[in-house]
Amino acid sequence: MSSLSLFEQASDFLSQYYEETEQEGLSIRLEGVKQEIAIRGTYRLSEEELVFGAKLAWRNSNRCMGRLFWKSLKVRDRRNLRTVEEISADTFTHIDYATNGGKIRSTLTVYASADEGDPEVRIFNKQLLRYAGYQKSQGELVGDPDSLPFTRYCESLGWSGKGTPFDLLPLVLQVDKGPVHWIDIPEEKVLSVPIVHPEHPWLAEAKLQWYAVPVISDMRLEIGGLSFPCAPFNGWYMLTEIAARNFGDAKRYNVLPWMAKKLKLSTRNAASLWKDKTLLLLQEAVLFSFQQQGVTLVDHHTASEQFMEFCKREESKGREVQAAWDWIVPPSSASTLEVFHQQWKNQVLSPNFFYQTPPWQRPQKTPPELVSKCPFSSN
Ligand code: ARG
Repeated sequence: MSSLSLFEQASDFLSQYYEETEQEGLSIRLEGVKQEIAIRGTYRLSEEELVFGAKLAWRNSNRCMGRLFWKSLKVRDRRNLRTVEEISADTFTHIDYATNGGKIRSTLTVYASADEGDPEVRIFNKQLLRYAGYQKSQGELVGDPDSLPFTRYCESLGWSGKGTPFDLLPLVLQVDKGPVHWIDIPEEKVLSVPIVHPEHPWLAEAKLQWYAVPVISDMRLEIGGLSFPCAPFNGWYMLTEIAARNFGDAKRYNVLPWMAKKLKLSTRNAASLWKDKTLLLLQEAVLFSFQQQGVTLVDHHTASEQFMEFCKREESKGREVQAAWDWIVPPSSASTLEVFHQQWKNQVLSPNFFYQTPPWQRPQKTPPELVSKCPFSSN
């Protein structure tokens, strides 16, 4: 949250917009905004301003390693949509467009916001595509443990899943603080990749799979002092997000001990390096499977090079890159990557993406708004 007035924030953003896009007419636009704020208490961004603001929010995402591509973000202005039917259908179109048969396109869709004076849209899901998690009797976990609370919430709305480890959660939507709706995501809209290893056929027995497109849908997009709490966006996956974290984390799918058993490695002795060995094999499998199906995914070595290129380009424009080292550096083979050996300032600029309390959860003690997070990568 900024201590600047709405007009000051608008003026900061619009000045940057006019300068970077080399347009005339800033002072006329600012006069218009001033009057609009005086009359309505707020102002509205033009479509062009919104598009540029969303790209800047990506460029400013301290935790994101994929920022080299910020200019190519496809921004869909859907602030005019009002009904649950229209919005859910449009969300599925976002998924389709972004998936593009596997050649993933970075895409962001903006829905109506109260800050602009519209009936606000909220999507309750963390990502548009996400697997449910269930706690069975005797404490047995099925699916993605990260989704346990949200799955329970969906069940409280009347949804129920099949109970497999990879049930897609429904889209949960609300318009203008009205009733909460859940809608199953049509399976044909969802591209997913079964995980196999070229030299270890037994890995297929784990029946692992992952969806192709990570669409973050729980963050607030802030541009020029206006918040857009519903602005789902996606890039493509980096290998370690799926292999190391989603499958490898002990608190997620936790497949390393099972793999170690298959490879007859002793899990009793940490120094057998069973975690390192299985993790490498799992990374090979995820990379191979995505490549074989023609689905965009970047390995951490290439991603590190791309991020260094982003830094170079930013510096050549006279801009200092802001980055959170602990998020930028991937969790596998860290010291072999150039990003590991760097340091950056970590100031949070606006436009940006911010955490917000999901409408289905009670507010937490530390306001999540204070933390900026990028979307396009997490390690
Ligand atoms: N780490 C998150 C996940 O595994 C996705 C975050 C966004 N990542 C991205 N490459 N755009 O689902």
